[in-house]
Amino acid sequence: MLLAGGWKDFELIDSGYGEKLERWGGYVLRRPDPQAIWPADKNGAKWRAADAVYHRSATGGGGWERLRDVPDRWTVGYGSLRFYVQLMQFKHTGIFPEQAANWDWAAPRIAAAAAAREAAGRGGVRLLNLFAYTGGATVAVAAAGATVTHVDAARGMIAKAKDNAALSGLPRDRVRYIVDDAVKFVRREIKRGNRYDAVIMDPPAYGRGPGGELWKPERSLCELAELCASALSGEPIFFLINAYAAGISPTSLGNILSVAIASRLGGRVASGELGLAASMRGIALPCGCFARWEA
Ligand SMILES: C[S@@+](CC[C@H](N)C(=O)[O-])C[C@H]1O[C@@H](n2cnc3c(N)ncnc32)[C@H](O)[C@@H]1O
Repeated sequence: MLLAGGWKDFELIDSGYGEKLERWGGYVLRRPDPQAIWPADKNGAKWRAADAVYHRSATGGGGWERLRDVPDRWTVGYGSLRFYVQLMQFKHTGIFPEQAANWDWAAPRIAAAAAAREAAGRGGVRLLNLFAYTGGATVAVAAAGATVTHVDAARGMIAKAKDNAALSGLPRDRVRYIVDDAVKFVRREIKRGNRYDAVIMDPPAYGRGPGGELWKPERSLCELAELCASALSGEPIFFLINAYAAGISPTSLGNILSVAIASRLGGRVASGELGLAASMRGIALPCGCFARWEA
């Protein structure tokens, strides 16, 4: 399991009985997590210190309850990157902290390729980030030197990604923001002849594009990986898939990359679980899985 261990402004304190307890900067949040199927001492001082808690409603959905003063949004840092944190719908906070393990893998690869291309007087590194949400990965790889095409179906998420990019001090021309369905966008890019040196995709367990297009990982993931493989440049660097969908194993995800890319281009595929280590006791919380191809 790959643990995102580089955070100072974020901490998973504990998890259990279907919830997790986290510190985001100066605020402690308590929210549901279906993976946390073990017991926890929720009467303990740390759990009772939560500043806000997300309650699931019996009819689906839910909402945040502020137990103390929590601002509308505040910021956290990860190295030189900065992000807004917010009490959002669907128990979200605006950042998936476990993704820092992917940022730490992708950023140095981008930086090395960008430096080599610059030294050789060639063009920069172009990266496609699909299902790009509030731009965690976008900010990390753009700061490392990539020019990023950031695609998300939700206009509101694009606005938040722009805020995060500005907060991290990225030059405005480093990221191109697209509100579109991921599959439709990649099809168009192939027709237009646009190619990318690296791809990151983090599809939801379930979702809809702006035109109501249904995203179902077990059907759509392989099709999209194959499409993205056709949109790779002649000198691809990496292809990273992240998935939260229950029932998709790291090996299945890796097999998608082996079939779509490694079978044609060679290179290496690795896959595994992502997780967060809790500070209160020696239990790591599983947070989905990843597969990575690199040349
Ligand atoms: C799991 S989140 C991605 C997390 C993100 N990569 C990160 O680490 O911060 C999924 C995102 O996919 C977007 N989405 C859902 N269906 C989509 C579709 N068909 N095309 C493009 N984006 C979609 C949602 O708006 C949401 O922002």
